[in-house]
Amino acid sequence: MIILCTHNDGGVGKTTLAVHVAGILLSQLNRTLLIDCDDQADFWQFYTGRTPIKSQDLNTQDNITIICNKDRKSIRGLAKPQQYDHVVLDIDSPLQNTVQVIIGNEPGLILVPVNKSQKTKALRNLPRTLKVISQLSKPGFAPEVRIVPLGIAAEAVSQVVEKIEIENKPKQCNISAEMPDLQEQMQIAIYKDRKYIWDYEDYKNLYEYFCTLIEI
Ligand SMILES: Nc1ncnc2c1ncn2[C@@H]1O[C@H](COP(=O)(O)OP(=O)(O)OP(=O)(O)O)[C@@H](O)[C@H]1O
Ligand SMILES: [Mg+2]
Repeated sequence: MIILCTHNDGGVGKTTLAVHVAGILLSQLNRTLLIDCDDQADFWQFYTGRTPIKSQDLNTQDNITIICNKDRKSIRGLAKPQQYDHVVLDIDSPLQNTVQVIIGNEPGLILVPVNKSQKTKALRNLPRTLKVISQLSKPGFAPEVRIVPLGIAAEAVSQVVEKIEIENKPKQCNISAEMPDLQEQMQIAIYKDRKYIWDYEDYKNLYEYFCTLIEI
């Protein structure tokens, strides 16, 4: 499956989702291809511990390959997506065609985060993000979209989503269970310790949360 973690806004939780979704897949021994399309390359750095050498860089270790793809070029020259069980992308805007250009394929699941610190902005721009995603659909293909409240009430998201006209909304669009407020812990886990949140004794139960999020 191809899983896209995206939102038009910055700082809303895309990398948080990408890292942990990838962590679940890897823990289940899936061959997984990770693609970081963000300039900051945070997803890449979580796994490699280094800054990318150039705008396109690749690192392979065990059952994981990660590609830094700032220029959003086709990765077919670097990797063979079909050799992987899953592909996870961290991408700052779900531009039409981007996914096809990069991997020549369609995402099965799109995760759209809305976090506490960027709540106002992320909710204001959520309709725009969902509209772009809805345009990715074509006859016979509609990705499943899950909006993920990070430290905010799911109800706040649903009030926004309910107001969006049906033609501007992805066909399969759900709001997932809210994640507890983990603003500080998540920041430390990803950007300081480079650990998954469930690797801390107090947050072990978050492993289940992310399993449910991607339904594994
Ligand atoms: N469950 C949560 N509750 C509250 N805040 C959270 C939660 N999970 C993540 N965050 C916070 O969201 C912030 C931004 O996360 P992240 O770096 O994943 O966003 P991003 O969309 O990838 O940002 P950028 O656009 O800079 O790449 C972090 O400071 C993190 O602590
Ligand atoms: Mg990021």
